[in-house]
Amino acid sequence: MCGIVGYIGNKNAQDFLISGLKRLEYRGYDSAGIVTLAENGDATYLRAQGKITNLEEKLLKNKRSDMIGIGHTRWATHGEPSERNAHPHQINDLFLVHNGIIENYKELKETLNDYDFKSETDTEVLAALIDSFYKNGDYPLSNAVVQALKLVKGTYGIAVVSRKNPSEIVVARFGSPLVIGIGNNETLIASDASALVGHTKRAIYLNDGEVARVTNDSVEIKTLNAEPVSAKVEEIETNLAAIQKGGYEHFLLKEIMEQPQSLMETLRGRVNVEEGTVRLGGPGLSEDELRRIKHLVIVGCGTAYHAGLLASYYIEKFTPEITIETVIASEYRYKEAYIPENSVALIVSQSGETADTLACLREIKKQGIKTIGIVNAIGSTIAREVDGGTYVHVGPEISVASTKAFTSQVIAMVMFGLTIAQAKGVKKAILKPYVEEINKLPSEIEKVLNSVSGGIKKIADTYKEYEHAIYLGRDTSYPIAMEGALKLKEISYIDANAYAFGELKHGPLALIDDRFFEMAFLPKGVLYDKAISNVQEVLARNGHIVAITNNQEFDLQVENIIKIDTSLLIFAPLLMNLVSQLLAYYITTAKGYNVDQPRNLAKSVTVE
Ligand code: M6R
Repeated sequence: MCGIVGYIGNKNAQDFLISGLKRLEYRGYDSAGIVTLAENGDATYLRAQGKITNLEEKLLKNKRSDMIGIGHTRWATHGEPSERNAHPHQINDLFLVHNGIIENYKELKETLNDYDFKSETDTEVLAALIDSFYKNGDYPLSNAVVQALKLVKGTYGIAVVSRKNPSEIVVARFGSPLVIGIGNNETLIASDASALVGHTKRAIYLNDGEVARVTNDSVEIKTLNAEPVSAKVEEIETNLAAIQKGGYEHFLLKEIMEQPQSLMETLRGRVNVEEGTVRLGGPGLSEDELRRIKHLVIVGCGTAYHAGLLASYYIEKFTPEITIETVIASEYRYKEAYIPENSVALIVSQSGETADTLACLREIKKQGIKTIGIVNAIGSTIAREVDGGTYVHVGPEISVASTKAFTSQVIAMVMFGLTIAQAKGVKKAILKPYVEEINKLPSEIEKVLNSVSGGIKKIADTYKEYEHAIYLGRDTSYPIAMEGALKLKEISYIDANAYAFGELKHGPLALIDDRFFEMAFLPKGVLYDKAISNVQEVLARNGHIVAITNNQEFDLQVENIIKIDTSLLIFAPLLMNLVSQLLAYYITTAKGYNVDQPRNLAKSVTVE
């Protein structure tokens, strides 16, 4: 969603602000803006609706060598996407950029009668509120920010500058990430560390309720209660190659194709094939605590939810006496759900910043339940608030559609399930096949990606004009069907829905006609024959079926067949998911849509 950048130092601020905003483009936005200040306080203030290139056009006539400034990409919440509503917002001498939502902005606005508001945003109200304490520069800016934030209900990551003192930036966070990069005689601000990569490796991640006054060579942090905070400087692990396309046309294709390596990173040091065991350090649960687990709650949104659902199918198969509930975070946060004793909650999130997932984490913690993060973004809010966790280590996922994170989330959760099963004394003979297949998965993924891409591209051409798609699976391939449908709809805008094969006769079968094509996931296994019967039912109604199977003898006369050549049985559905990812990619490129930044969506959903 929205992105923040800021710069104060000895170089050109406009250069960093624009390059930083471009790094944050992947998060989704509809307008952008920057302000820089000269030494005498003169402001160069530019905003534009649409892409950052529109802002750059304005910049061509307004090039400055100012060395302090802030910038923003906005994803509209209050008020339409427009230049007027774009950030920074200016009130008198102050400029403010803001991520998050000020929930009580209407009440606050009523108290700010002296101000003439120009936008429909909650952010402009916050700017006025800060200004009302700043009193034309008579009080330190950081104090004014603290006074204002004490009155605010909602979430924020903010950066503020004043024409009265162009040698400081004040930043604060509550619920929206804010990172301070420490450079050489320069300090950089971003809502996402990827904007800082290549500029510095040292960063301070602000915590909720903290306000920092930043100059080119100092960072003073305090809480809203004026208590000083000693900053912890951490290392940014991401490198430049990880956030570049690396020769691919789109980030999505790069991220699909790099799954052999990204999964290897998830597995590194955690799998012992000889012994048939796995070991996860991060959750921090003793053998006894693992043994006592009776119930797992798995929480996530979108793809993370699907990963949780798939993992639950696997874990239930090999872990005795355990119940698993996989829940959608936006629903669960408002349920008065009772979580039984001896439960552990897995909090699944690529970004580690998803608002609903974070809210669930906080609610679950209140009940005294242990929380374990299955997170990718290092240092993210969820990663820092869980009791323990397992990073999936897939590197930055830039494309809005989540792909490599899904594969690794599933496997990280299965490995967590295996550690529970090991502690509960489940026989090695039961667990070893899982460990062996996990170990082979990266190379099998590579093999499948290399063998199926060309065929899928052709199939994509056949189905690109269809209006609807139905994804069908059962058992472990049902979550795969759900994930496939999500991938297709979110980037190609084809209406795609998933059903368990067994549900067909309970309604969806009525849909089958020439406007639809059906993706049938058919892994070999105990339910294979039943799924084949369901395929027959669709065939009998002239369905346009694409069958994805690892059964090399499959010979039904369906419209298209994608055969997966693999020795894996347990995780064959994960290989079939690669087909869904590639199909969504190729259909979308064939339609000429923006693959990496689909309309209306954001990479990291930091508001409810
Ligand atoms: O960062 P998270 O894993 O918490 O994000 C959850 C969802 O917003 C995300 O998976 C979303 O559904 C993706 N666009 C799906 O491709």
